[in-house]
Order: sequence, then C-alpha cells, then structure tokens
Amino acid sequence: MRFSERIQGIEASGIRKLFESAGPGAVNLGLGQPDYDTPAHIKEAAIVALREGKTGYTPNAGIPELRAAICEKLRRENGLTYRPEQLIVTAGASEALHLLMQVLVRDGDRVLVPDPGFVSYAALATVAGGKPVGIPADTTLHTDVEKAKELLDGATVMVLNSPSNPTGAVEPEESIRALVEYAADRGVTVLSDEVYEHLTYGKSHVSAARFGENVITVNATSKTYAMTGWRVGFLAAPEEVVDQAMKVHQYCQACATSIAQYAAVAAYTGDQSPVAEMRREYQARRDLMYEGFTRLGIYFPIPEGAFYMFVPFGRQLTERVISKGVVIVPGEAFGRNAKEYARLCYATSRENIAEALHRIGQAVAE
Ligand SMILES: Cc1ncc(COP(=O)(O)O)c(C=O)c1O
Repeated sequence: MRFSERIQGIEASGIRKLFESAGPGAVNLGLGQPDYDTPAHIKEAAIVALREGKTGYTPNAGIPELRAAICEKLRRENGLTYRPEQLIVTAGASEALHLLMQVLVRDGDRVLVPDPGFVSYAALATVAGGKPVGIPADTTLHTDVEKAKELLDGATVMVLNSPSNPTGAVEPEESIRALVEYAADRGVTVLSDEVYEHLTYGKSHVSAARFGENVITVNATSKTYAMTGWRVGFLAAPEEVVDQAMKVHQYCQACATSIAQYAAVAAYTGDQSPVAEMRREYQARRDLMYEGFTRLGIYFPIPEGAFYMFVPFGRQLTERVISKGVVIVPGEAFGRNAKEYARLCYATSRENIAEALHRIGQAVAE
C-alpha cells in the first residue's frame, strides 16, 4: 500500500500508547478524561430516546432541540448570540476541529497552535495540508501574546484553548481580546476551543467570540458533563463556514449519534448542579496535588483550570516517575517547547493522587 504524504506527516497519539501500556499496579494520571459517570438525568434521556425508537439518522446539523439548547447555552453562559443555522453538532469537539481545519486551511498555510498545546491541533492542521507553527507560552504558562502577535502575519488560522490542555492556564480577558483583535487585523480566523470552560478555579472563563466576528467557537459535552464516550460536540460559526463544514461532516459523519444528541439536550437544559459538584471536587484534587508538590520542593505556577498540572520535572525525573508506576505524559507530546515538563491529570480519586505523590516522592528522593 502507498500512503498519503499528509497521513505520513503525523504520528499516532503517544498518550493513548502510554495509556494502553500501563501495568496493573500503575496509577494512571495519563489520559485526560473525567473519572465521573455521566449524571443520571442525562443517561435517562438517552434511555428514553432509545425506547422511543429515536435510532435513525438525524438531520446532518443535529436535532433541532439540541441546536436550540446550544443556542440558549451560548447566550446564557457565554454571552454569545447564535442562530441554529450557525451550528453543527459533531462527534465531539475533535470532529469540529477536524472539519474546521479541512474548511479553512489551504496547502502550505501557516496554522498557529499553542505550544505546549493539545495534541490534535498540529496533527489536524497537517492532515489538512497546513503547516502548524507553535505559539509559545510565557514563564507562567499563559499564551505569550506578544510572540503570538509576531507570528500572525501570513497565518490563516490561530487556535486558542483556554482553559488549556496541558497547562491548566486560564487566559485573562485582556489577552483573549488582544489576540482576537490582532488576528482580525491580519485576516486570521480564530478557533476557540472551550471544552474546559466550566473547569476554572477562581478565574473566569471568557469566550473569544465576544471580541470579534473572526472567531469560531468549538465546544463539547465531553468534559463539562463527563460524557467523553458519548461523542457530542459542536461548532458555532458564521453561516458561510457552516455551509462549507457541512460538506465534510455529511460525507464523513452524517450526524452525531442520535441518542447521544438527546442526552446532550438533557445536559444543556437540565440540572447544572453536577457540573458545580465536579468542579468543586476537581479543585480540591488540584489543591491536594499542588500542596504535595510544594512539600516535595517542586514549585511552579498553580494551574487555574482544566484538570491538568504541567510540572517542570525534567526528563530524568519524568522517566523515574513512570518507572515507579505513575503514568504521566512527557511534555514533548504537546509540542517542541515543553520537553522539560510532564502532564499529570488529576481527574482521578484523592487516593490515587496521594499514592501518586508518594511514588513521586520516592522518585525525587532517589
Ligand atoms: C483541549 C481539548 N480539546 C478537545 C478535546 C477533544 O474533545 P472531544 O472528546 O469532545 O472530542 C480534548 C480532549 O482531551 C481537549 O483536551
């Protein structure tokens, strides 16, 4: 078989490989997903849909109830006004990112992605024929706005991700506004990936689309409602973008899973208290882990969001920690700029966090 250059230009995600290779006694801080079950009322909505036989194709863009619920969510939580025609319900945020890269990126285009940043951005830009260019973080692990500004000339797309995977940084409003405005001046489209919007600890999330027409919002039920396996996300964009993205979506996906869409309606319109509960628990776990590092003499800025800690271990300690049976992700998985870091996901029990800290303490002592 011959394979396309585009597909050979990317590698399989190292994170999944790590996850699959973890031994039986390992504490897994590798994969970034909630350790919660989906709230009961959301599961119930899917069960009802299943019983009612709502098992056929849905409209390509998603069921009208869900698009209406998402419009209402965007108004209520994000201060954004969208019409249902400006939305496509996708198989998770991942599909939305893929569609947008396919639609916006031409061969050889420069696509600015956070570095360190979520593994998919550079890969999806490459598959679309683009050339990913990393936007560095500053010493506090927030986007270096001045550096981003310098990179914008001649770029097509800039990806923003606040709260960030892998750093946990929440960008301040003034940075987001400045980045969107600089991008608009240079004709660059901003993709704002807001999947961790509800996981912030003492900082507020601000949607980039508040500051310009050149912003496309990507979000999902995955992290907010502990629904990673249901595969429901969306993109919200100007209609001309939706028209183009729909072409890829209808040929490769047709629609998001029918019963998962009904579950998502319950998620966005139902009781939001599980979201607050999960956020409180993640914050307690963050504090537990951060205090553990302080006791070990490992200092770094406290992450303000998501459920990751990006720790300056250096490579030797990263390897030693992994050899102690703590699955963590070496920083190089997230780009070129973070080789001396490792990502730890604290969406796991307090017991697991305590055990991981114990083993990390042993690795440090050695
Ligand atoms: C920043 C970011 N965006 C998107 C995704 C993918 O989300 P989904 O599961 O909805 O495709 C992830 C998953 O880890 C993520 O961390």
